[in-house]
Amino acid sequence: MPDHWAEYNARQATRDIRPLCRRAMDLAGSGAGRTAIDLGCGGGRETRALLEAGWRVTAVDNEPGTQARLLRTVGGIHAALTVRVEAFAKVKDLPPADLVYAGYSLPFTGPPSFSALWTLLRSTLRPGGRLAVNLFGVHDSWAGRPEMTFLDAAGARSLVDGLDIEYWDEEDAPGMAYSGPKHWHVFSIIACLR
Ligand SMILES: C[S@@+](CC[C@H](N)C(=O)[O-])C[C@H]1O[C@@H](n2cnc3c(N)ncnc32)[C@H](O)[C@@H]1O
Repeated sequence: MPDHWAEYNARQATRDIRPLCRRAMDLAGSGAGRTAIDLGCGGGRETRALLEAGWRVTAVDNEPGTQARLLRTVGGIHAALTVRVEAFAKVKDLPPADLVYAGYSLPFTGPPSFSALWTLLRSTLRPGGRLAVNLFGVHDSWAGRPEMTFLDAAGARSLVDGLDIEYWDEEDAPGMAYSGPKHWHVFSIIACLR
């Protein structure tokens, strides 16, 4: 895990959009007149893709350089962008949303704030709205860190009770992280409120 998200995020702005976000955008259709939230937006690569597709975007991240970094990443298309430099534990309100995307970010908060934020983001979904999230599983190398949240499959499944699961993938395998080799246990989920 990087010590400094700023360093990690600085290297992310020009990579391809993450497949989970692309898939959710394809399922959602046009962003015109609709609102997306990018939780833990990092370098802003997915925020930029959402803006380019016509979404209004609220981007949240607690890394202090987020505002400047995002404005650099999105270039001229920032009229529909709201940036909030805020820790997940401090997020008490979110706009009504048609898409909530959280790429490899929600696990980086402890169980109490994860639980509160999850309740909030479920309540903020408009009918027809979608969640697209990566959650970390209990076999992950980082499992046990108290400032993070890890789930078993049943726990992850229960988070999307009442939603239509449109995509579910469980990775449970060795791989590479920014910090070096690790075991990844990641649930990647897209679910829709019908
Ligand atoms: C692994 S990066 C993912 C960034 C981006 N979504 C991506 O896919 O490249 C995790 C991001 O979450 C942010 N983050 C970590 N813990 C956070 C917290 N407790 N509250 C808000 N943001 C947090 C970091 O600053 C970082 O930008």
